[in-house]
Amino acid sequence: MKTRMTELFGCRYPIQCGGMLWIAKPSLAAAISNAGALGNLTSGNYNSADELRAAIDETRQLTSAPFIVNITTMPSIRLPVELLQAFFRVCCEKKVCAMEIAGAPVDRFLGPEFLPMAHEAGVKVLHKVGTVKHAVHAQKVGYDAVTIAGFEEGGFPHKDNVSTLVLVPRVVSEVDLPVLAAGGMANGRSLAAALSLGADGIMMATRFLATRESEVHPNIHKVLMEKQEYDTSLNLQSLLSGFGLQVRALSNAIMKKVEEVEKAGGDLTDLLPLISGERARAVWKEGNAEEAMLTIGQSVGLIDDIPSVSELIERMIMEARETIHKTHGLLNTDDEPWKQKSTA
Ligand SMILES: Cc1cc2nc3c(=O)[nH]c(=O)nc-3n(C[C@H](O)[C@H](O)[C@H](O)COP(=O)(O)O)c2cc1C
Repeated sequence: MKTRMTELFGCRYPIQCGGMLWIAKPSLAAAISNAGALGNLTSGNYNSADELRAAIDETRQLTSAPFIVNITTMPSIRLPVELLQAFFRVCCEKKVCAMEIAGAPVDRFLGPEFLPMAHEAGVKVLHKVGTVKHAVHAQKVGYDAVTIAGFEEGGFPHKDNVSTLVLVPRVVSEVDLPVLAAGGMANGRSLAAALSLGADGIMMATRFLATRESEVHPNIHKVLMEKQEYDTSLNLQSLLSGFGLQVRALSNAIMKKVEEVEKAGGDLTDLLPLISGERARAVWKEGNAEEAMLTIGQSVGLIDDIPSVSELIERMIMEARETIHKTHGLLNTDDEPWKQKSTA
């Protein structure tokens, strides 16, 4: 499957893993890249430039295939701007295949010198955005690709609440860069649909969380198989709408508490103990899915098994091909008016 995405990143299949704090580490990234998709090494897992350097080396020992490094450009106490700038420099120094920037654009958040720095090093930079306006900005300032994420996505969707089905064709019409579709992607039919909408590939995260290589407690895998598309909710608007964002997370006991605190007018100090990343880190390991904010997408409704990464990717590619083939079979190929139109 050759698309502008596979050409840009040099991967076999047009499927990327999205950034996942505490999850997207060398072993999972390498498993995904070895299976022909684009694995993700999430820089937020590390506390220093040296730690990220070591993680890039470790991933390279596990795979010779390309992978992408996520840098989440959002205000954070643990990951101040200076550290994110250092992460960016490490990616350039190590000449990784690409960076996935999620959050504020690099030119504004890190500085105008950063995108040219990446290009000089031969590193591609993709921007994950949630609106058409931000995709257009990404093209204007020189990103190499965009991921457009609908509000189905786990994590931090835009507050506009627009679905992937509408955002992808909108961005494809407005931007002349490789476009990845994200939010609600989980199987080969998702991939076929995204390609039909004009995308060059897909990005998914929740589906990769539900693979044998993601290092979470078995109970988390069980929860991912049981939960349905209606089992996530949008939260933290009081805290995040100033940034244009909100959080989609699994509906659970903690998120109920978060809702109560927000309704009572609580602020960051009240909310932080409930939503901290450290809490999520413990839950991924220990398995009680009620006890932390778990950023899971609506795509959880499409998950009912825990395959290995390579089984998942092979199955997706087969299913996408079959779907495209079936769709093509609906056409009467003697009558192809668009061909006449293009030669007229
Ligand atoms: C467990 C988990 C952790 C995530 N952590 C991050 C992160 O650190 N940075 C980021 O940009 N996105 C993060 N995301 C969002 C994903 O990269 C992606 O945008 C989103 O999950 C896509 O929707 P899907 O999960 O339905 O495929 C996370 C998602 C999940 C499931």
